[in-house]
Amino acid sequence: MDQANIGEVLISSEDLQRRVGEIGAEISRDYRDRDLVMVGVLRGAVVFIADLLRSLTVPCEIDFMAVSSYGSSRDSSGVVRILKDLDDPIYGRDVLIVEDIVDSGLTLNYLMRNLRARDPKSIEVCSLLTKPERRRVDIPIRYTGFEIPNTFVVGYGLDYAQRYRNLDYVALLPEDAAPTL
Ligand code: IMP
Repeated sequence: MDQANIGEVLISSEDLQRRVGEIGAEISRDYRDRDLVMVGVLRGAVVFIADLLRSLTVPCEIDFMAVSSYGSSRDSSGVVRILKDLDDPIYGRDVLIVEDIVDSGLTLNYLMRNLRARDPKSIEVCSLLTKPERRRVDIPIRYTGFEIPNTFVVGYGLDYAQRYRNLDYVALLPEDAAPTL
């Protein structure tokens, strides 16, 4: 499928930039005089974390983790494998996990348990998108960009079969191309 065939725009580039700026301002207020390390979850969160980082006015470090979920490409099983771990310890630090989207919540649930075991001072979650209807475990999300309906989206870091991450907006996939939910 050609990029020209992408479905309806769900969140425009302007709306994304405005919301990222708002979240950045909120994080900057909340993390003043703290020891912030943002943990980006590869690969989907790369675009979001890059913009978010530049909207912060407080000191912060970034690190990355890559995880893969066993099960079908669409439905996460909750059994997660770490493909790339953090480069640095997070003991005693204020960790903010940055995600592209929280769907069932199973991946994030695993990630939080894994990172908590390393004794950070605090751990919170910031997700650009959330699909509350799909949630299977309750995850406290401290900062949310947008709540979206139960539909498959691409763009601004999110992919379908590794494509469309480069779009600067979030779009729906056309019905015939979208994986069944
Ligand atoms: P969860 O464990 O079900 O919450 O899965 C979260 C992961 O599934 C996200 O980090 C994405 O990589 C992927 N995902 C879930 N929904 C979408 C979507 O609509 N578009 C692209 N990727 C998605």
